[in-house]
Amino acid sequence: MLRPVRTLAKETAVVFNPKYPSPYQHVIMSQQFVPSFLEEVFVLADRIRADEASFRDTLQGFVVAEHFSEASTRTWYSFGAAAVRLGAHLVCSQGSDKFSSEVKGESLEDSIRVISGNVHLIVLRHVDDDSSRRAVAVSKVPVINAGSGKTQHPTQALLDAYTIQRERGRLGNLIIGVAGDLTRGRTCDSLVYNMAKYPGNTFRFVAPYNCKPKPGLLQHLREHGVPFTEHESLEEVVHDVDVLYMTRVQTERFDDPEEAQSTRGKLILHAHLAKHMKDDAIIMHPLPRVDELPKEVDANHRARYFEQADNGLWVRMALLTMLLTRQS
Ligand code: CP
Repeated sequence: MLRPVRTLAKETAVVFNPKYPSPYQHVIMSQQFVPSFLEEVFVLADRIRADEASFRDTLQGFVVAEHFSEASTRTWYSFGAAAVRLGAHLVCSQGSDKFSSEVKGESLEDSIRVISGNVHLIVLRHVDDDSSRRAVAVSKVPVINAGSGKTQHPTQALLDAYTIQRERGRLGNLIIGVAGDLTRGRTCDSLVYNMAKYPGNTFRFVAPYNCKPKPGLLQHLREHGVPFTEHESLEEVVHDVDVLYMTRVQTERFDDPEEAQSTRGKLILHAHLAKHMKDDAIIMHPLPRVDELPKEVDANHRARYFEQADNGLWVRMALLTMLLTRQS
């Protein structure tokens, strides 16, 4: 028996920043989250992880859509597996830029209007920077941003924070190195907006001259009194970071392919460099990795990127449960 499409309430009991929708309704950017929301996600993720059998029918009767116009491995499989493992049905378009009616010129808004009339929740990855806001404006059901152009990937930030909490035992009082293509990457922004909420955190941004952090992100940190430093080499930061978050050069987002190729390989965490990190520091990466994280680093006891990827399943199971079953 199909459950009725959930009506989206205008307000929820928890007070969130009124500039953004409640994350219990739509998940579009990390600025929506407050620590109590993260805590709720993490506690539920841990409960599901410890006793998955008890949650097998939680989403029975719900239909979840995955609508992806950009390539994905982790986000695609983990959202799909999360929905199915909770008992939901899944309907999908991976390669929606090739296989949905977007090919015929249909707008994202029209596609989302139609999809939201058929399902209970939409997981959207789209090349447009503003795609999730555009989708939320027309959707009748919750929308989860699974990556919007070069702006945000908020569920990655949730699983990143969950990983830091599990591995370091805290979310504040950390020195967090964020390295790679900070101009075109989206996971870094979502991570930083998320972790900037916790007291005592300091950021060390490491990027080649043409991959510097976005001005809006730095402005946000200045406005909130969050300290940060900028660097061009990993040697300057490896010794003092508690968390090192590596990312790849986003070659597909460069205007000039030659510049993209020449930027690859400018920032590499060589195995001999990683050995200079604090003993209890951790190395993270949202993956996929390319040149910046050689396979030799996998043997370093600080490497946590595959555990980080695995954590995505439990966090996304928790998030789907909260958005689809919470009465607001
Ligand atoms: N981390 C991440 O978003 O990976 P995918 O692009 O494979 O989904």
